[in-house]
Amino acid sequence: MTIEVCPVEELPAGAMRLVPAGPLTIGVYNCAGKLHAIEDRCSHDDGPLCEGDWEPELCVVVCPRHGSRFDLESGIPMTLPAFEAVPVFPVSVRDGMIVVDVEQH
Ligand code: FES
Repeated sequence: MTIEVCPVEELPAGAMRLVPAGPLTIGVYNCAGKLHAIEDRCSHDDGPLCEGDWEPELCVVVCPRHGSRFDLESGIPMTLPAFEAVPVFPVSVRDGMIVVDVEQH
């Protein structure tokens, strides 16, 4: 399924937006001009990952529940307690609109 997020100018560098995608919620991030999308659910204990702080210059999101840090590009945790990757999704811009291609995992 393809999810329309917003016009590209509405997600400038350093911005994040949460979007519903069927049963999932996905955080879409603009890290210094590169777009990334990650599921809003931590692989450790289902924490609301995208409600945590994030670091645009490093492209890292920090789980608000126990503090694991995840690479936004790969979804791979960089610190414990999480040790499994969080699903990430391809993001592109079509006709000026940011879109995410979501496969159900
Ligand atoms: S729920 Fe995210 S680190 Fe525990």
